[in-house]
Amino acid sequence: MNSKTCDIAIIGGGIIGCGLAESLALEGLDVVLLERGVIGREASWAAAGMLAPQSEMEEPGEWFDFCLAARRCFPETVERLRDSASIDPQYRDEGMLYVAFNEDEERTLLKRAAWQRRCGVQSEILDASELARRESAVSDSIRMAVRFVEDHCLDPRLMTQAYAISARRAGADLREMTPVHRVLIDGDRVVGVELPGETIHAQSVVLAGGCWSGLIAGLPFALPIHPVKGQMLLLQCATPQFSCTLHSRNIYLVPRFDGRVIVGATEEHDAGFDKSVFAGAVSDLLSASYAVVPALREAAAAETWAGLRPGTPDRRPIMGPSPVEGLVLATGHFRNGILLAPLTAQLITEYIVSGSLPETLGPFGIERFGAASAPARKLGV
Ligand code: FAD
Ligand code: GLY
Repeated sequence: MNSKTCDIAIIGGGIIGCGLAESLALEGLDVVLLERGVIGREASWAAAGMLAPQSEMEEPGEWFDFCLAARRCFPETVERLRDSASIDPQYRDEGMLYVAFNEDEERTLLKRAAWQRRCGVQSEILDASELARRESAVSDSIRMAVRFVEDHCLDPRLMTQAYAISARRAGADLREMTPVHRVLIDGDRVVGVELPGETIHAQSVVLAGGCWSGLIAGLPFALPIHPVKGQMLLLQCATPQFSCTLHSRNIYLVPRFDGRVIVGATEEHDAGFDKSVFAGAVSDLLSASYAVVPALREAAAAETWAGLRPGTPDRRPIMGPSPVEGLVLATGHFRNGILLAPLTAQLITEYIVSGSLPETLGPFGIERFGAASAPARKLGV
């Protein structure tokens, strides 16, 4: 069997693994990333690309604050990737309009805007006529909307590719069609990973395998990650119909610059690893999208797909040390892995390089599910 030695082996080539490969390689570490399929073709490919803590988080607290901090990483990260990878992730900063069709939805939205205002996070309340003035394509059945000015979006497929290219340029070895069969552990320390016909010896291993993270052989602890299916569709309009993401209670519509609209998504916790797209889901997504923008009836139905979010029991990621020394967790990003990718890369890199856990990662440890975590290894060069 062949063997190789490196500083860090990363399992999984989604946005989380690729972001980390880039940032660890930029620190001068010798990084090998192992992807069993094609880089960036699972959840990170299926995602809409909303960077939307104000629209998606339900209450104030450390989780909301963490997601706001994640959002702040974007403009700079996108700018840097444009240069280092020569890929433009199509970042859009026009904000997000969350619409209400009835009094009950209006009340819920106003409550959300109010608690966020108390946290110092701003939004704008638009009545129906102001909404119609700003976005003429929206339905006149909409009663009002709240505009979350700083909730932005980008194309997650391009962002993941940009990370992968930039990681390679920084010296990381990113391998496709390379499944990790087993994590290798000696006593209570990780020593590497086993591939078909090859062993990679590594000082640290990062587990970033998305919803498959808990299935890798050799883990001596349970990782509570499960797949949460999201069915999506893509509509192609001849010209752009609206200028920012539109969100209703049932649906989101994310516009791309060229007239495409991503329509999402189902949230299915009991579909296992199945990625079929069903007629009923497509029909529900279409009906909900016409309710918000009636002209979408005239759009071409361009594509459907489903992806598997890495879900956890409390809907938050699992990041930081594991019960095995040197085995680092960067997984379970559920509905927010695109939003969280740059901050995850930054904080996990800081942890690996310095050997001390950044305070902001504290709430996301595996200990909250009853597993003890091992001491860190410092890998700074
Ligand atoms: P993945 O992208 O799934 O990557 C994991 C990789 O690990 C895969 O490529 C897999 O092949 C590989 N792997 C697994 N096991 C092994 C092994 N043994 N050996 C080698 N490789 C392995 N987030 C947002 O922030 N905004 C959104 O708008 C948004 N919309 C979404 C819409 C949908 C429909 C879905 C499904 C998700 C959405 N998300 C969104 C969530 C986001 O996509 C995920 O949180 C994020 O992509 C997770 O990234 P990841 O790298 O952990 O996982
Ligand atoms: N964050 C959107 C989704 O997961 O569908």
